[in-house]
Amino acid sequence: MHLILLGAPGAGKGTQGALLAEHLEVPKIATGDILRDAVREGTELGQSAKRFMDAGELVPDEVILGLVRDALAAPAAANGAIFDGFPRTIPQAEALSEILMELGRDLDVVVVIDVADDVIVQRMSGRRTDPETGKVYHLSFNPPPAAVVDRLVQRDDDRENTVRRRLAVYRETTAPLVDFYVERGLPIEHVRGDRPIEEVQAELVQRIGR
Ligand code: AP5
Repeated sequence: MHLILLGAPGAGKGTQGALLAEHLEVPKIATGDILRDAVREGTELGQSAKRFMDAGELVPDEVILGLVRDALAAPAAANGAIFDGFPRTIPQAEALSEILMELGRDLDVVVVIDVADDVIVQRMSGRRTDPETGKVYHLSFNPPPAAVVDRLVQRDDDRENTVRRRLAVYRETTAPLVDFYVERGLPIEHVRGDRPIEEVQAELVQRIGR
């Protein structure tokens, strides 16, 4: 199965994507995670991506497409993938269709996680990541186990001004992808993301019928 998770920053794409990847036994291809790994490792890609990310802007399409092409060609993705944070622009969506066509594969469904802006701001301020496992927690809504609390880190782009810019970029550039896929006749499933993580996951699994 090839499934796209769409939603504003903080809607819960990473959280739900990780659970779905486990459930469907396919990898999660999260361009934000790949970029953050590159930043941490200090690679050339990471250094050039960091200034876009810290400003809340999108990293150029050609950089992102190279990453996705590689991830999809990996044996782990032979049976499908969950796309988290990709595509984010119409050119990225068009390129994804081409890459999948070259591989003889197809998109199955687009899931949109809907969450209001005020909830998003709360989520970003409490989000913490475990640098050792990559797991994402929230100090109140999804509390981390005591054993890992001291090593958790906060993302650089979760500062309030950057969050506002990321939300604006989502509305301007990424939200139009919903219509893009409607016009192409792809099934679109809207899920309300402002409910407990387990409830959102249960509805998602039921909606995609797996
Ligand atoms: P990216 O990493 O993709 O960030 P994003 O889309 O802004 O999404 P987030 O990761 O912030 O949120 P999420 O929806 O995954 O929510 P999460 O599950 O963590 O991108 C970052 C940057 O990289 C971009 O700004 C851009 O610069 C660059 N980039 C990445 N991809 C790109 C691309 N394709 N093209 C160009 N540039 C690209 O949840 C958030 C918090 O809420 C967590 O603390 C979580 O525990 C909590 N939470 C989740 N669900 C619930 C719930 N149901 N109830 C209560 N709390 C919840």
